[in-house]
Amino acid sequence: MAKAKRMMQEQLRLIDIIIELVDARLPLASKNPDIDRLAGGKSRILLLNKADMADPQATAAWEDYFRAAGFYTLALDCRQKADVRRVSALTARACAAKIERDRKRGIKNRPLRAMIAGIPNVGKSTFINTFAGRASAKTGNKPGVTKGKQWVKLPGNIELLDTPGLLWPRLEDEAAAARLAAAGSINDDILHKADLAVELIDYLRSAYPALIPARYGIEPGAGRLEDLENIARARGCLMKGAEPDLDKAAALLIDDFRSGRLGRITLELPPQPADEEKV
Ligand code: G4P
Repeated sequence: MAKAKRMMQEQLRLIDIIIELVDARLPLASKNPDIDRLAGGKSRILLLNKADMADPQATAAWEDYFRAAGFYTLALDCRQKADVRRVSALTARACAAKIERDRKRGIKNRPLRAMIAGIPNVGKSTFINTFAGRASAKTGNKPGVTKGKQWVKLPGNIELLDTPGLLWPRLEDEAAAARLAAAGSINDDILHKADLAVELIDYLRSAYPALIPARYGIEPGAGRLEDLENIARARGCLMKGAEPDLDKAAALLIDDFRSGRLGRITLELPPQPADEEKV
């Protein structure tokens, strides 16, 4: 963690703007709070990635929330070129003050230098690959190119640092850690899959009550455990004596959630003004 922090600090000196990725299904749990301090006065873009798997209404609410906190935001699926291309124009907007400063000093067309940052698995490499396409491979393969920091040229006079800034997830907050584990952003070992599954069922029963019955063709049970048993029976996850195999059903449910097969789900909503916490 200390090493990651040091690397971030070094990388930050080289750039004009931080493009931070969070998971649109859990934007706060997947957001590293330390980066706000590390960022100093740099321009900031916050990308709500994996928006293809998140609830669009919740994503719109999160965009409002982060815009109000001073970020330029965009919700996207960073595997899609068309989505990622929109980041060029947003970067120019976010760096408008710097471009104007340069212009007044007579500096024209100086590239905007950006870096991607985010916790593991949030999509940083995917973003860079989609954005850079073949261009990044070319740069790396050129003879005589020194090892170390490489800049990938992007449309809109942007240069992106090809090594993403690795941020560390919020693990001290138990509820946030559980959401990260459910989404597959941290190791399952931290929380037992069956526990994760019942937590997830609890949440879905209140926030998206139609999804489990629709996916597994079952009636809503009296409680979360009954739902898990019903999922096990509906999917033939049975032990000796036809007892429902809850661990197997839990793994299946979590897998369906992570792959988006359960539907578009967001695990947390923006804090209301009353319980506002600092982003
Ligand atoms: P990282 O560099 O931040 O660690 O993340 P990485 O790009 O490796 O992405 C982690 C996983 O998330 C990958 O899936 C990637 O395909 C997926 N991913 C990234 N962005 C999006 C997105 O916007 N939407 C969706 N649905 N998925 C996204 P994987 O299972 O590890 O690999 P694979 O499925 O690509 O083989």
